[in-house]
Amino acid sequence: MDLSSAGGALLITVLRLLHIVGGLIWVGAAVVLSFYIEPALEKAGADGGRILRGLYSETSFPSLLPVSALVTTVAGLLLYGMMSYHETLGSSMGLALTLGALLGLLAFAHGFFAVWRPAAAYSALADSDADQAAALQGKLRRNGRVSMWLALASLALMAGARYIGPVLSL
Ligand code: HEM
Repeated sequence: MDLSSAGGALLITVLRLLHIVGGLIWVGAAVVLSFYIEPALEKAGADGGRILRGLYSETSFPSLLPVSALVTTVAGLLLYGMMSYHETLGSSMGLALTLGALLGLLAFAHGFFAVWRPAAAYSALADSDADQAAALQGKLRRNGRVSMWLALASLALMAGARYIGPVLSL
């Protein structure tokens, strides 16, 4: 498709919106969860555990991060292919976007295997076995923090890519 045509511009605009709004929800939710909700619930002891289990088993919260991350990643991959950034690796913008994309893909893979998949088991355990759920909760919290930092680093590289050249005098 000719990306300079009206149809091409519309497609890029929709993909950019999905990518950026999806990324905002993914990273924003991960930061709020890691830095605010989890520490507050941990301090609340058994009550905190009950609230967290309620969040995972009574609401659609378990899908928020995986779905927003999937939308961000799929739209990002399409944009990366369509805008031919692989051909501009020599430019500071192409390089920053590529590094950001690699970190974003890593954040997605780590989130999928180390957090979201085991979180489904957590939702199932939450009602039946509180002790096992508490053990899994600690592991999910640590792994979630790793994914959050990877996604945050990806966001920093993506958001700064356009202007990183002049800043580094490249
Ligand atoms: C945590 C995950 C991610 C976040 C928060 C994020 C965020 C962003 C933001 C804010 C921009 C806008 C930059 C600008 O226009 O100046 C952007 C652009 C872009 N992102 Fe990501 N991104 C993420 C992951 C990815 C991944 C995994 C890929 C591809 C595999 C990707 C590919 C792209 C591309 C190609 C652009 C440039 C689009 C254009 O030129 O119109 N991103 N991203």
